[in-house]
Amino acid sequence: MNLTIIGTGYVGLVTGTCFAEMGNKVTCVDIDEKKIENLKKGIIPIYEPGLEAMVQRNVDNKTLFFNTQLKDCLADCDMAFIAVGTPMGEDGSADLKYVLNVASEIGKHMSQPLIIVDKSTVPVGTADKVKDVIQEELNKRNTNIDFHVVSNPEFLKEGDAIGDFMKPDRVVVGTEDKATAEKMRQLYAPFFRSSMDRMLVMDVRSAEMTKYVANAMLATKISFMNEVANICELVGADVNKVRIGIGSDSRIGYSFIYPGSGYGGSCFPKDVKALKKTAQQHGYQAQLLNAVEDVNDRQKLVIADKVIEHFGNDLSGKTFAVWGLSFKPGTDDMREAPSIYIINKLTELGAKIQAYDPKAVHEAKEFYLKDNKNIEYADSRYEALENADALLLLTEWKEFRSPDFMAIKNNLKNPLIFDGRNQYDGERMENIGIKYYQIGKK
Ligand code: UDX
Repeated sequence: MNLTIIGTGYVGLVTGTCFAEMGNKVTCVDIDEKKIENLKKGIIPIYEPGLEAMVQRNVDNKTLFFNTQLKDCLADCDMAFIAVGTPMGEDGSADLKYVLNVASEIGKHMSQPLIIVDKSTVPVGTADKVKDVIQEELNKRNTNIDFHVVSNPEFLKEGDAIGDFMKPDRVVVGTEDKATAEKMRQLYAPFFRSSMDRMLVMDVRSAEMTKYVANAMLATKISFMNEVANICELVGADVNKVRIGIGSDSRIGYSFIYPGSGYGGSCFPKDVKALKKTAQQHGYQAQLLNAVEDVNDRQKLVIADKVIEHFGNDLSGKTFAVWGLSFKPGTDDMREAPSIYIINKLTELGAKIQAYDPKAVHEAKEFYLKDNKNIEYADSRYEALENADALLLLTEWKEFRSPDFMAIKNNLKNPLIFDGRNQYDGERMENIGIKYYQIGKK
């Protein structure tokens, strides 16, 4: 098929590249000229394992193209995917200005029947709005062209996005039009080699809702476990054991019940807020979602609280090594990362930070911790430890999972670890002679 993907952010670029990899002819469009210029040369704006090579391969194979002009791409296009950002508006709801701008551009320039696919995470009812905007533009042109707006939310995990796209758990398609559903089925068939059972066609509003509910459910599991962790500490239980104890119940399962420093990233915080807002706009107060957010906000600072409990409120003269800045391993993304909150809290109290992250240092320096002058960035995990008063582990990158504990002990001023991701065995730490604080176990 001939596809146009509008927006070359994280979702658009992965979507376009994976469709190209399956043999479609794909043009990715973005208004950012510099970005498009770079993409044509195979330089990608984000870190996502495997993506750069896949972009390059498809550019070389002439299956993937980049353009800044949407109007030039619609002439021979079967489907246009809207994958532009939906940032959080001031009131917590998703801001649809970019999505609706694209819809209006499509309406202005489309010249043949078209399927328009909402890939961006958008509130329930957006597909109808997109449809209205396109129809209005067609009316202005006194033209009538057949088109359908489909909701096809993405479920990509950063760091694993290509795997998630190429081997999806499910593909959700919201459309009430049979022929459109069939076209979507054809597009996704190569991704389901054994059975199409995981292609779920439903009405548009249910599809839009599915995306929010999936993320809100996962965020709820995490906040629930973090709350349990805090109670475990108080009653003298070990949340690591409790996690295994409950996960073994197949109704509960092991995934997404790891306690830690709270969820971050571009999706969970924004989507929980937006779902809450949607409910409110329909006259419903979503109490559980409120609590999920409150628990998460508090959880981000639990490790900082432990440091303060140990060292006291005045941290001047203290230096802390930080391992991990990104909101999770496998990405350079620092949006809503717990590290931001923890580091800022400690430096406000006078501390200095020596931070190391395999991928996110650039993001920290340029954006998220730009104004914090009390951070130095190290080139390696062990360099970050030199003469620090303690190590704080904030992101569970693989290279932190099994470090040389003697090197940790020898490099730090005090043999002391605050682990916001429960990566190590407390008993082993005790045997090595490292004082070890973790989440959910005293
Ligand atoms: C998420 C969804 O998984 C994906 O389907 C959706 O499309 C976008 O949002 P992502 O934001 O990339 O993907 O991250 P994910 O791997 O889901 O982790 C989210 C957060 O939860 C991270 O901050 C992670 O550290 C935290 N988390 C995850 C926990 O604290 N405990 C867990 O058990 C699992």
